[in-house]
Amino acid sequence: MSAKTLSTLSVCPSESNDDLEQRILDLSAELYRRKKLATPAFEAGKSPIPYAGRVYDEQEVRAAVKASLDFWLTLGPEGEAFEKELARFLGVRSALLVNSGSSANLVAFSALTSSKLERPVRTGDEVITVAAGFPTTINPIIQNGCVPVFVDVNLQTANIDVSRLEDALSSKTRAVMIAHTLGNPFDLDSVTQFCRQNELYLVEDNCDALGSRYKGRLTGTFGDFGTSSFYPPHHITMGEGGAIYTNSPKLKTIAESFRDWGRDCWCASGKDNTCGKRFAWDWEQEAKAAGGCGDCGTLPKGYDHKYVYSQIGYNLKPTDIQAAIGRVQLRKLPSFIEARVRNWGRLRSLLADLEDDWQFQEPTPGSEPSWFGFLMTMRTADHARLCSLCKHLDAAKVSHRRLFGGNLLWQPAYRNIKHRVVGKLKNTEALGAGGLFLGVYPDLSEEMLQYVATAMRHAWRAA
Ligand SMILES: Cc1ncc(COP(=O)(O)O)c(C=O)c1O
Repeated sequence: MSAKTLSTLSVCPSESNDDLEQRILDLSAELYRRKKLATPAFEAGKSPIPYAGRVYDEQEVRAAVKASLDFWLTLGPEGEAFEKELARFLGVRSALLVNSGSSANLVAFSALTSSKLERPVRTGDEVITVAAGFPTTINPIIQNGCVPVFVDVNLQTANIDVSRLEDALSSKTRAVMIAHTLGNPFDLDSVTQFCRQNELYLVEDNCDALGSRYKGRLTGTFGDFGTSSFYPPHHITMGEGGAIYTNSPKLKTIAESFRDWGRDCWCASGKDNTCGKRFAWDWEQEAKAAGGCGDCGTLPKGYDHKYVYSQIGYNLKPTDIQAAIGRVQLRKLPSFIEARVRNWGRLRSLLADLEDDWQFQEPTPGSEPSWFGFLMTMRTADHARLCSLCKHLDAAKVSHRRLFGGNLLWQPAYRNIKHRVVGKLKNTEALGAGGLFLGVYPDLSEEMLQYVATAMRHAWRAA
C-alpha cells in the first residue's frame, strides 16, 4: 500500500505493524462500547426479553478481530489452545472442537462404529435413548443405520426414567445416547452402572449442561464421550461450534479422524509428518493385519500418510476465529454458570404460586445443574391452553421455548423411522403437549426476571 493511501486512512507510515494492530483492536473495542452505550435501557412490556442470547463484551470482539487479522482461518493455534483449555476445565484427557453440537453428536456416535474398535456398533444395533428432546441427539443413531429404542422420561427431572432401562435391553443393545435435559444431569449412577454391566457405550449429550455436576463431578465426563454446543443460547458461544470430549486416547484419535475427512494422519493444521514416517507406512501389511484388502488391492507401501483414509469421515471443523471467541467465553464460564443457577432459583421462587398447576423441573438427586432453562410442565396437559398461553407470553414480549421437539416421534421426520418403544411414553407426551421453558441466561436482570414471572402468571390466567 502506498504512503498516500495510508495517509487517507489516518495511518502514519512510521507506525509499526504491532502498534497499528493494537490501535485496530482498541478501535474495535471502542466501537463495541459505543454500540453498547446506545442500546436502549430495558422497559418492561416494551423491550423484548429473549430466552437466551450471546453474552459478550469487548474482549470477545478483540479476540475475533485479532484472529481475523492473524488470518489463520482454519482450525489452528486458537483451536488447539481452546481444546486444551476445555479439557482442563472438564478434567478430561482430550477435547476436540467441531462446528456444532450436532456435529459433536455425529462424530461421537460415528466413532463408536469404527472398525478400529474391538466391539464397534454395527448397522441394525439398538441404542437406548429418549424422545423428549433435541433431534440431533438421536439423529446420528439413525444416520448410522442403528435403531433408536425410546424409553419414557421422568416428569420431575425431564430425564430418562432409569427404572425402564432393563426393559429396554435386548441382545442387540450396544449403546445409550441421551442428553442432560436443559442442564439437569440424568441419574448417572444408574445409567453408568447399567452400561458397565451390559458392556454398552455411553454418549452424554452435554450440549445444554456445560458446568453441571453429578456427585461433584462435571457431566459429560462419565461416558465414553461427552458433547457440547456453542451455539448462542448455550452456556458459552462462538456463534457456531461444538466439542467432543473423552478420556480414551483411542476414541479421541478415531473421533478426530471422523471430524477431519476420515484421514488416518493426525497432523495439526499447517504441520506435516507428525508420525515421523509419512512416506514409510506399509499399507499392504496394514491390510493383512486388518484381515484383507477387498477386491481392488491396497495402497502401495509409502503412500503419503496425509492422504490415507481409515474412516468414512466428514469435515466438521470450525474456524480459528470461532475458537478465539470461545477461549474468552471459557474464561467467563464460571460466572455464567453462577448467573444461570441464580436466575433459575429466582424464577423458582417468583413462580412458586403456580406449582399447584405446574410441575417445575427438579434437580436430579445428587446433582448441581448448570441450567439451560426453567422448564415447567402443566400437571394436566392441555395443548390448546398451552398455545393460548404462549401467545399471551409473546404479546408480553417474553420469549419462551418448547422442550425442543417435544415428543420426537410426533415429528414429521421420524414418522417412518425404524425404532422400538419401551412401554408407553406417557411423560414424554405430557412434556410435548404441556411443557415449555423460560430463559435463565446470564444477561437477565432482576427486573426482567420479575417481569417474566408476572407475565407468566397473567398469561396462565388469561389462557
Ligand atoms: C441437547 C442438544 N443437543 C444437541 C444440540 C445441537 O447443537 P447445535 O445447535 O450446536 O448443533 C442442541 C441444540 O440446542 C441441544 O439442545
